[in-house]
Amino acid sequence: MAEKEDFKFDFDHYDDESAYSPYGRWEEMRSKCPVAWSEKNGGYFILSKYNDISEAIRNTGTFSSAGGVTIPPKPVPKLPPNEFDPPVHGMYRRIVNPLFSPERVAENRPWMRAIARDYTQRMLKQDAFDVSIDCAMQVTQDVTQRLLGIVDAPDDMKRCAEDLVLMRGNAEESGAKLVELLNLEIDKRRTAPGDDVISTLLSASYDGKRPLTDHEIVHTSLLILLAGLDTTTSAIGGAVWYMLKHPEIREQLLGADQRTWRLALDEFVRWTSPAQGTARTLAHETEVNGCPMHSGERIFFLVASGNRDEEEFPNPDEIVIDRFPNRHLAFGMGPHRCLGSHVAKAILQDVLEGLLEGLHNFRIKSDDDVVWEASNVRGIRSLPVVRI
Ligand code: HEM
Repeated sequence: MAEKEDFKFDFDHYDDESAYSPYGRWEEMRSKCPVAWSEKNGGYFILSKYNDISEAIRNTGTFSSAGGVTIPPKPVPKLPPNEFDPPVHGMYRRIVNPLFSPERVAENRPWMRAIARDYTQRMLKQDAFDVSIDCAMQVTQDVTQRLLGIVDAPDDMKRCAEDLVLMRGNAEESGAKLVELLNLEIDKRRTAPGDDVISTLLSASYDGKRPLTDHEIVHTSLLILLAGLDTTTSAIGGAVWYMLKHPEIREQLLGADQRTWRLALDEFVRWTSPAQGTARTLAHETEVNGCPMHSGERIFFLVASGNRDEEEFPNPDEIVIDRFPNRHLAFGMGPHRCLGSHVAKAILQDVLEGLLEGLHNFRIKSDDDVVWEASNVRGIRSLPVVRI
């Protein structure tokens, strides 16, 4: 009988290879060891093929989110709705869905676009700037805070959020600080409610039976604050990086119609795959492709590899701006599919539109200065460009 040790593969989604040059290893995993067992990070299984991931990620009965969706789990209490299984997951998710619908995003679009324009126009006037740090992260941060109704965020809010998402610095202390800040925001909204996420959570009811507790409101808000930051920033950084390396993509986008833009946004998100993977805990014993898995063991769905699976995507390493069909996994699949996908794509489009006209006047400062990072999220953290 097979043991998990028979599926052993040297893999760590935090190492430099994952950050800078993961494509060969992902390919090797998909072809030789599509269900892998790594001894790193406390020991975990990794699924790397598109079909295996898309099937397992929807199977919430076997692959539970309740043990946390990161490896290792974040040092904060469980975040609704993401770290709850159905049916409780649905109770939380129904409350926040309307706030992130395409219609709601369209209503918010004028102020979202204005934030993106403000940063992109300012950057394009400089002789040098960092696409990720000075532009992508700032726009994403401002948009997310405004969705939450936070108007005067303290300077270290962004750093704390990044520490927690990237599991660096003192993540535990940063988590505690964010919880404290969000509690203050709840108090403000109690006396002066608005049409933001925190106000909506304050007036919401769990399953029509009771108001949400402050704990539930804080941790739902915390998830919304964290989930979009580095993911959207990575999508923007990756898309701009690719266009600087392949100017023809920028030219194709310049005259693109709305349909092409829609397809292009999904293609940028597939190619960048900012959520490198999402984790689950085995709810009971099972077997995937002959590999036995036991209750309580941890598994990582390596979404970024699934999105490069040549059996699903022809020429997977290339960006084809009008790729169709494109059933990518970048926003997940099933009940936990990304709540903020319409917000993310709106920010991505607004920033790219803002940068497109002037981008041909800039080049990457040097390949050595581009910083990629990998954890549960993956992508470019610093993309310095200089005027040509
Ligand atoms: C390109 C940007 C983004 C990517 C690639 C991305 C990716 C993902 C993925 C893969 C999941 C599923 C996680 C799982 O299965 O456990 C997810 C869930 C989620 N995302 Fe995003 N995300 C992005 C932007 C955003 C933004 C901007 C927000 C909010 C402002 C957001 C909020 C959420 C929330 C709340 C969930 C949990 C949904 C649930 O469990 O029901 N995301 N995202």
